[in-house]
Amino acid sequence: MDQAHGLKQLLLERRLGAHAERPPRVIAIGGGKGGIGKTSITVNLGIALSQRGRRVMVLDADLGLANVDVLLGLNPRWTLLDLLDGRCPIEDLAVAGPEGLEVIFSCSGNRRMTHLDITERAAIVRAFDELDPWPDYLLVDVAAGLSDDVLMFCAAADEVIMVACDDPSSMTDAYATMKILTMDCGVKDFQLLTNMMPPTSDGSRIHERLLRVSSSYLNTSVNHLGNIPMDDYMRRAARSQKPLICDWPGSPAALAIRALAEAVERLPTRSDMGRPIRFFLRQHAMGSFA
Ligand SMILES: Nc1ncnc2c1ncn2[C@@H]1O[C@H](COP(=O)(O)OP(=O)(O)OP(=O)(O)O)[C@@H](O)[C@H]1O
Ligand SMILES: [Mg+2]
Repeated sequence: MDQAHGLKQLLLERRLGAHAERPPRVIAIGGGKGGIGKTSITVNLGIALSQRGRRVMVLDADLGLANVDVLLGLNPRWTLLDLLDGRCPIEDLAVAGPEGLEVIFSCSGNRRMTHLDITERAAIVRAFDELDPWPDYLLVDVAAGLSDDVLMFCAAADEVIMVACDDPSSMTDAYATMKILTMDCGVKDFQLLTNMMPPTSDGSRIHERLLRVSSSYLNTSVNHLGNIPMDDYMRRAARSQKPLICDWPGSPAALAIRALAEAVERLPTRSDMGRPIRFFLRQHAMGSFA
């Protein structure tokens, strides 16, 4: 137990060293349902934070159907699979994206990535603790669904942004994800990001509903972090493989994403921040380090 504690402290001190005033923040962007804008938001939020002078890294954690590379029109040489197989160390994995964004890619259509065992999944999370220097933000684009990968990446993050649309199945999926993360992984608070909203809506109705059920049945808090309107430029950006925020900076969704970046910067520092290995250590590794 002492050894485990020592390792955790060492990694934390290394990460926090370069961030004495502003601890690095790991943010998972999930939501349960597929096709609700998780990847588009991750990439554009990353660029918006970079434009504010922050060092930002995006991790494509959609291990089976990775597509951050497609959205950015980039062709990565190395992916998480090369990290796992020891072909590429974590420090060489990141590719330079737009506006100084750094991106770590996964690979799509590789069955092995969808069948990682617990040690391999934990190895990915642990590898990030060896990053030196650490980015100000690590944004994790999480897959749809409720696989163990999804749960692990969310539970390992400092903040979980749940993306939800005005659609009953999106709200049900968001709630189901929050329920499992709360009950099985101890996540206690969530950030809600409403997306694809009609111009007349600010997303507060969705927030009220999710807040009501989650505070009654899960005893968790849900903060409404931002609202992004339905905007055809977002689809156009995806089709042309160019980031919305770079090529259509005045579009309604780009403006909302810049407001989201401001809201992210205002999030209060938490006492347990900067610990992406906490899930790894808590759930699986205490025994092996004891
Ligand atoms: N605010 C928006 N307005 C209009 N279209 C949007 C908006 N947000 C996302 N989209 C579009 O929705 C589609 C799905 O987006 P995206 O791939 O980011 O979703 P996802 O949640 O990551 O999907 P998956 O679950 O498959 O990973 C894309 O065509 C994207 O351009
Ligand atoms: Mg996606």
